[in-house]
Amino acid sequence: MKNITVIGVGYVGLVTGVCFADLGNRVVCVDINEQRIDDLKQGVMPIYEPGLEELVIRNARAGRLSFTTSYAEGLSEAEFVFIAVGTPEGVDGEADLQYVRMAARSIGEAMDHPMIIVNKSTVPVGTGDWVADIIREYRSSDVDFAVVSNPEFLREGSAISDFMAPDRVVLGSLNRDAAEKVAQLYLPLRATIMITDLRTAEMIKYASNAFLATRISFINEISNICEALGADVKEVATGMGYDKRIGHAFLDAGVGYGGSCFPKDVKALAYMAEIKGRHPQLLRAVMEINQYQRRAVVRKLEDALGSLRGKTVGLLGLAFKPNTDDMREAPAIHIARMLQTAGASVRAYDPVAMKVAARMTPGIELAEDVYALVEGCDALVVITEWNEFKHLDLRRVRDLMNRPVLIDGRNIYDPATMKELGFYYRGVGRGYEDGGAE
Ligand SMILES: NC(=O)c1ccc[n+]([C@@H]2O[C@H](COP(=O)([O-])OP(=O)(O)OC[C@H]3O[C@@H](n4cnc5c(N)ncnc54)[C@H](O)[C@@H]3O)[C@@H](O)[C@H]2O)c1
Repeated sequence: MKNITVIGVGYVGLVTGVCFADLGNRVVCVDINEQRIDDLKQGVMPIYEPGLEELVIRNARAGRLSFTTSYAEGLSEAEFVFIAVGTPEGVDGEADLQYVRMAARSIGEAMDHPMIIVNKSTVPVGTGDWVADIIREYRSSDVDFAVVSNPEFLREGSAISDFMAPDRVVLGSLNRDAAEKVAQLYLPLRATIMITDLRTAEMIKYASNAFLATRISFINEISNICEALGADVKEVATGMGYDKRIGHAFLDAGVGYGGSCFPKDVKALAYMAEIKGRHPQLLRAVMEINQYQRRAVVRKLEDALGSLRGKTVGLLGLAFKPNTDDMREAPAIHIARMLQTAGASVRAYDPVAMKVAARMTPGIELAEDVYALVEGCDALVVITEWNEFKHLDLRRVRDLMNRPVLIDGRNIYDPATMKELGFYYRGVGRGYEDGGAE
């Protein structure tokens, strides 16, 4: 049993805290958001993540997990302090480090005994050294501490199982002894643990996210070529994926990547390269293709409907991917804005992201369920591949719509079936340059 403090109770911090508690440690979670901490004390989750609520309540009841807004209280027994605050996109595409700076400062001010600071937030290469400098500047006495980088690779929607069964744990530090102590915390997971230097660990996170985003943009580029040449990108990706050197993951053509990580991390990596005089051409192309995929949805709607002025378009799904309510950088937001600019009315339905959407997408009418959404729509766009959309009563959908136009941004339906049902159907990269069903 170790005493662990986690700073920030967002997707990463709360999952980290509850999983370490579940492994038998005593964990205190600190956040400056009083509402979030009050809610958590009452067993109310600040985010939607499958399995999270049950785990939080069980570990809090067992006395292994507690919540506070006070750094002094949170750090009083801490042996390890995990920083898991947000690092959103700054004005020029760089990572905005204001929350990491505040957290480091507050840790420094409250630190009264030796501890190991573990940085889990995704931070630019070199930030570990900077965090140590801030702590040194603000600590009141000469207390000993070490900084270890421990980038997080969990995916929203499967965050708990990803944390508990990671492909690898990466630790970076100038202090090998401190990194090995952090490694001990992960031993029960029986995962591969890699220990390297601070900057290399920070870079592994950016390079991994940039590579995954590149795979998505690669298959999206192939999908555009498939559309022009009459091939089916879904089958192309399947055929490619059987090659062991390639594999199947992250080869789904669609409306582009979104969420709180890929967009900002690819931008931040390109920024880091540029300020050092490098030319990240591939990263720029990855970002450009991602934007293009969103514009392609609007173009397909215009192919089907002509001008979008006065038309009603329904969005099936709002979250940037299924099983989360996270809408940061969600393709839905950008597509909805483009549609509104083109004069269309936009409606939407999402199984879990409606509360978040009400805040983030003003001007979009939110429907109670799919069938309420589709009534009177001139077109539907599948934005998020939620399971519940895969087996809709498509005849009912068709009959309720003003016109049976469906743009499938995630390729969840079978083109031949949709054609048979009388839909004007366009997927992504499925050989429909000629306009789909008659
Ligand atoms: N969300 C993901 O899927 C994911 C995956 C891997 C890595 N990451 C990285 O992890 C970090 C956290 O991401 P997230 O999505 O969990 O963020 P989040 O926005 O969901 O949560 C951040 C939390 O930090 C709190 N906070 C901000 N400043 C604070 C301070 N000074 N002291 C205490 N609490 C403070 C906020 O109130 C909020 O609750 C980011 O760097 C992100 O890039 C995220």
